[in-house]
Amino acid sequence: MCGIIGYTGGNQAAPVLLKGLERLEYRGYDSSGIAVINNGALSVVKATGKVRALADKTNDGSSLLGNVGIGHTRWATHGAPSDVNSHPHLSADGKFAVVHNGIIENYAELKQELTAHGIPFASDTDSEVIAQLLQYVYCGNIISAIKILIDRLRGSYAVGIICSDSPDTVYAVKKDNPLVIGLGDGENFIASDFAAALEHTHDFVQLGDGEIAVITPRSAQFYDSTGAQTDKTPYKVDWDISQAEKGGYAHFMLKELYEQPRAISDTVRPRIKNGEIILDKIAFDDRNVNLIEKIDIVGCGSAYHAGVVGKYFIEKLCRIRVNCMLASEYVYSDPITDNRTLTVIISQSGETADTLAALRLAKKLGSHTIAIVNVVESAIAREAHDVLYTHAGPEIAVCTTKGYTTQVAALYLVGLKIAKTKHTISDERYGKLLNGLLEMPQKVSECLKSAETVKSYADMFARHKCVFFIGRGTDYAASLEGALKLKEISYIHAEAYAAGELKHGTISLIEKGTVTVALATQSALYAKMLSNIKSVQSRDGTVIALTSADNSAISDAADHTMFIPECDDDLSPVLSAVVLQIFAYYVALKRDCDIDKPRNLAKSVTVE
Ligand code: G6P
Repeated sequence: MCGIIGYTGGNQAAPVLLKGLERLEYRGYDSSGIAVINNGALSVVKATGKVRALADKTNDGSSLLGNVGIGHTRWATHGAPSDVNSHPHLSADGKFAVVHNGIIENYAELKQELTAHGIPFASDTDSEVIAQLLQYVYCGNIISAIKILIDRLRGSYAVGIICSDSPDTVYAVKKDNPLVIGLGDGENFIASDFAAALEHTHDFVQLGDGEIAVITPRSAQFYDSTGAQTDKTPYKVDWDISQAEKGGYAHFMLKELYEQPRAISDTVRPRIKNGEIILDKIAFDDRNVNLIEKIDIVGCGSAYHAGVVGKYFIEKLCRIRVNCMLASEYVYSDPITDNRTLTVIISQSGETADTLAALRLAKKLGSHTIAIVNVVESAIAREAHDVLYTHAGPEIAVCTTKGYTTQVAALYLVGLKIAKTKHTISDERYGKLLNGLLEMPQKVSECLKSAETVKSYADMFARHKCVFFIGRGTDYAASLEGALKLKEISYIHAEAYAAGELKHGTISLIEKGTVTVALATQSALYAKMLSNIKSVQSRDGTVIALTSADNSAISDAADHTMFIPECDDDLSPVLSAVVLQIFAYYVALKRDCDIDKPRNLAKSVTVE
């Protein structure tokens, strides 16, 4: 939620900041703003709406002079999206400009206190208290003032600060929200995500909670919360900036959808050596595996849906009980967890606040934690005991595609590794599934080739108001993701149901004009799915089946059929997901929706 960028260097700051904000727009896009220091004075420009509006207002940044500045793209929490509520916020004396990501929980109390001291407030936001508090406590030493911020602010924050008294410097401080420092040549950056500065540098430092960064064009210094200077070790990010560009595709979602064969291959292939699965540094040896009594998989949104696929797979293969839990519920559920529970935390961004909170609770309760994460050095990756990166590369579209399918692929690896170690799988089955995994990139490419047919159904049904997704077993797990894809980018009401549950209420909603996407990829369940298809059609509903290429029984019965290539039943959810992503994409396109930035959503949800 909300993207922050800061720059100090030899170039004009505003165009650099705008470019960075465009790359951060996936974090929020209801308004944006920039503050720069020019000739010792601060100037601020803000715009409601997308970053493009801010670029138009500033002639792509060229009309804002100055080599030092901060920028922000907002996802509103406190105060409606408007120019006045947009960041940067200025202190009343005009000395400080502040950008903030997170929520200041005690802002009302601080605002009352500062107002009582005669400091006027301009906005409805929680964030403005940071700027006004800085003004109030500032006695000429900015580090000391920031230390007081750390003491006084409650909640979560990543904050970028500039001050007219130190015209070549950008300051930053954080707690429970991401912030990296980019180290360039004669220029330095602060950013919510390294993608915002990747065009300029591949060297980054992760700011820790309670740490303060002070950057000038030629230096980056770090202080702990007591004000003592600390050393930080930079790391290299080997992602290529071209991966974060659209590269000729109409949308990031489409580009990322087509990157899935490569992303799955990068996630799976390097980890299979001579028939053995090697999960980086994770020690799944006899001793560790035999200690596992149950597995909790925790995530939000699509990451949770990947977990549901993982639950079916791991329970079946490993004969271990698996709970899949929404991270936002996990923390309130008084989880029954101890050192015999393995907790698998799933997150593309590695910074979702609910998921991070769940990870911390699981660790506190004594569970061993493994994070399946895409973004290197993200908070979840750093805090979990072990990490298994998904190697999807940067994902920019708010709705995840390759993030999800690589998470499922990683869970398959985990399940197979545990099953093999526990001897709950025969050599033959293990070999077959391993081959299936290695062939998956190729099968995904085949799914992508069916895009034209899937598009024709998308065009046909794009004006419908309601779509149900049904399936049994692992098809039900895949249905959850299919429905989420459709609703989040096309705004059509879409719900997933376990097909057998349809008759317990939901079937009352089936009538002429209702579309049901019936997933039938499980050979043992074809007959049962046929009955479901028939019962929907008997109520005048239309059925689009999704089944495997060899299955004419289902395609003969359905009104329309989308196919996945033949594959092992246990591995079909990845292929189903790809077809349903294409379906959702073309429905949203037909409806003229903002596919990469759906209304009200943000990709990184850093508030609980
Ligand atoms: C947001 C995104 C979803 C994503 C979820 C969890 O809601 O729009 O696509 O699945 O967050 O994100 P994470 O980064 O933890 O996987």
